[in-house]
Parts: sequence; C-alpha cells; structure tokens
Amino acid sequence: LLRPPVPRPLAGKRVLITAGPTHEPIDPVRYIANRSSGKQGFAIAAAAQAAGAEVILVSGPVDLDDPQGVTVKHVESARQMLEQVQAALPADIAIFAAAVADWRVANEGDQKLKKTSAGMPPLQLVENPDILATISKLTDKRPPLVIGFAAETEHLIDNAKSKLARKGCDWIVANDVSPATGVMGGDRNTVHLISRKDGEIAVDSWPVMTKEQVAIELVAHIARSATEKPL
Ligand code: CTP
Ligand code: CA
Repeated sequence: LLRPPVPRPLAGKRVLITAGPTHEPIDPVRYIANRSSGKQGFAIAAAAQAAGAEVILVSGPVDLDDPQGVTVKHVESARQMLEQVQAALPADIAIFAAAVADWRVANEGDQKLKKTSAGMPPLQLVENPDILATISKLTDKRPPLVIGFAAETEHLIDNAKSKLARKGCDWIVANDVSPATGVMGGDRNTVHLISRKDGEIAVDSWPVMTKEQVAIELVAHIARSATEKPL
C-alpha cells in the first residue's frame, strides 16, 4: 500500500524538555511543590517525537505514562532536574516547561518533624538553581534555540517579556494561569508566544487550544524557525 510520507521536520534534531513539578523535601514525609500536571511538557515531547526528533524528557513527579519513543529521566528535586538536563546536553532545542519549585528547605530533616509545644518548625528556605537561566547563559553548550515558559496570574505579557530578558532565552511561551481561567491541571491552555525578532520583541497570541494543540503548534514554529535559520 502506498501512503504519503509522514512529514518529519525535526528529523536529526535533539530536543531536551523539562516537565512537571519538582518536589523539595522538608523531611522524609513532606515536601514543597508547585501545582503542575506535566501535561503540557509531555504533549510537547510527544509532538517533537512525532516530528522526527530525538527527545529527552526530564520530568518531575507526575501521574502520566512516558510518551512512546521518548527517553524519560524521572527526577524529584530541582537540583536533580538540573543535573539530568546538564547530562543530556548537547541539544539543538531546549524547552523548559517544568514548574520548578523556586525554593527548597535548607535544613531538611532526617526524621519526620513532630508537632511540639515549642511551636512551628523553623523552616529555612534557600533558592533553587534556575535551570532555564543556567542553560540559556552557557557559553559552550548552549542549545541554539532555548524556550522558556511563564505561568502568570497577572500582567502576563509584561512579566513574560521581562522573563525573556532576565533568563536570556530565545522564546517564552506565556501562559495565563489565573484561577478564573481554570487552566491549572486542565486540558486547555491560552498561550502567547513571545520571541525576539531582529532586536524587537514580537508577541504572537494563539486562540484557546488543548495542550496537545499547543504542543503541535509550538513544534511547527520550531520547525519553521529551523528552516529559516538552520539551528
Ligand atoms: N525555571 C527553571 N528553574 C527554576 C525556575 C524556573 O528552569 N528554578 C524555568 C521554568 O521551567 C520556566 C521559566 O523558568 O520555563 C519561568 O518560570 P517561572 O516560575 O515563571 O519564573 P521565575 O523566574 O521562577 O519567576 P516567578 O516564579 O517569581 O514568577
Ligand atoms: Ca518560579
């Protein structure tokens, strides 16, 4: 049977993706985490794989099956995520969809903390490494296209634009997660793709789509930019 050839615009490209939350232990039974289902990052991994890319997905704890044909590295904490991302380099394209916990507990307990009459446990927080910024600022192994996400509850475009500058990435996928949108943990996303074009910052607003459609659209944009300006 003759079938039309499947377009594989990312054939030969290596794509690195982070997804899901990270869990930062407080003690052996408790952790700090962000809300994240991992669905958007997993959908991007599947779409990139379908487009012919070799895909490495570094995921925090999620309740999802590993996408077919994708190499998945499962991690818990932000520091483990950074380690696996660094180990996966070099890559042609890196997409940071994970909701990394910004802080971890400095004085992690070896034993379960107990309630005492002395009051609340004194939790000291320290900042986690910024994986996106770390990789964006590499001089030797920086992937030619680095894409971050910005989940915001207010001032979406302005916050995302300043994140693009601060992190040093090439594109930001800005995502409105204010409670009224009901997107957290859901199947749909309203995104704006913010990119640098000839020194200008361009904002491309997409209609509400499923996370699978967002993934396919993002992969199509990546494929288009790879042909315009070979990665
Ligand atoms: N990110 C990361 N490592 C971190 C924090 C964030 O790689 N420690 C990445 C996320 O995966 C996302 C982007 O940075 O692609 C933006 O994350 P976000 O939480 O929106 O930005 P922050 O710089 O942490 O700012 P804030 O949470 O204060 O808005
Ligand atoms: Ca954050």
